[in-house]
Amino acid sequence: MKRLVLIGALVAGLVARAEWRMFERRLGLFVHWGIYSVNGYHEQERMRRQLSRADYETAVAGFDAANFRADDLVAAARSAGADYIVVTAKHHDGFCLWETATTDFNAAKSPAGRDLLKEIAAACRRQGVKLGLYYSNPDWHQPNAYNDKSTHQVPPEAGDEPDSMRYLAYVKAQIKELLSNYGEIVCLFWDIPPKIEDASFNELARQLQPGILIDDRGWSKGDYSTPERGIPPGAAFTNLTEACDSVGAQSWGYRSNEDYRTVGYLTRSIDRILSMGGNYLLNVGPKADGTLPEESRLRLAKVGAWYAKTRESYRGVETVPGIVADENCFVTRRGETIFLHYPKGLEATGGNLRPLNRLPQTATLLNTGVRLPCELTDMPSDYKLNTGKVLHVFGIPADDLANESVVIRLDF
Ligand code: GLC
Repeated sequence: MKRLVLIGALVAGLVARAEWRMFERRLGLFVHWGIYSVNGYHEQERMRRQLSRADYETAVAGFDAANFRADDLVAAARSAGADYIVVTAKHHDGFCLWETATTDFNAAKSPAGRDLLKEIAAACRRQGVKLGLYYSNPDWHQPNAYNDKSTHQVPPEAGDEPDSMRYLAYVKAQIKELLSNYGEIVCLFWDIPPKIEDASFNELARQLQPGILIDDRGWSKGDYSTPERGIPPGAAFTNLTEACDSVGAQSWGYRSNEDYRTVGYLTRSIDRILSMGGNYLLNVGPKADGTLPEESRLRLAKVGAWYAKTRESYRGVETVPGIVADENCFVTRRGETIFLHYPKGLEATGGNLRPLNRLPQTATLLNTGVRLPCELTDMPSDYKLNTGKVLHVFGIPADDLANESVVIRLDF
């Protein structure tokens, strides 16, 4: 009997381990793709340049996705180490990446002539990558959508009929399609809070996708928060958090003269968020032909090379703020193993790990796999503190690692 219970527990454990959970300090790929990629200015081009609907929407003619291969996009995500993708099903301009019955303003009716979301969903399944959807509440195409309570709105044009009831029905019809026809959707990223409280949207999403997690920018309280382009204060997150940032400093969508983030910036920002306990969505914007700019592809690969070496420092760990006095050092821990993260960059070739005062069996620089020397010593800078001997790790080739976040593993 005892043995049976034991086997049962073991099997249950295995099943639980096999189950995919979104919030395990994961990296995801954010994809902003739509007709804004044609002019290559910014995904909010119409609002930021104050274009009329007709003028902006001429861009549709250039959206051909001629060289788009969904498997390449998913492979690029995997090259970064991402294990889920969040795609802009619809951005503020109202253009839909999927074949929808609700409007002709969609990819299948554009020169692309295909349901691009369907292709992405199939490639995700083939390559074992999970899929999530971004959906903009502002919609600059749908004639009923204008919402004066919210932001990112473009004033109605002649012939529009602002009518929130009709727009809500439109959103629901679209969400029904999106969450019924593309297999498993692990998360829903509503964008721009509509400032209209209506729990039925998230209820509908959960009914169609029972496992779905929903962000905090929607029609009622969601499951997780979504800080973008910055690091929230503190050393550890207290609620589910998925931070996002882009390889492009200016735009989320494809931008021809983009200022690309350095790999140092990207790895440090990912390291900081993951070590604080959050997920991280790293964004790219494909071009109108469906290919990724070379600069983006390169950055995904470089982030991936760094992440492959440091990833173990985020797996099954807890964040343990305060166990090292250095405010530049973020610490995660798994049992007797401690990981030191330096997402603000290293200012010197060694670190004072006060008040830690035990010598680890080994100290390993994960970036290179090389062993680091360490000692218990009285650090001269601590002479007023009476700390006694503290742990000192040194000999870090900090200058060689200036372009990536440094992670050190201590095995006790
Ligand atoms: C902002 C922007 C939007 C972008 C999003 C990504 O809300 O309005 O363009 O898609 O951030 O998080």
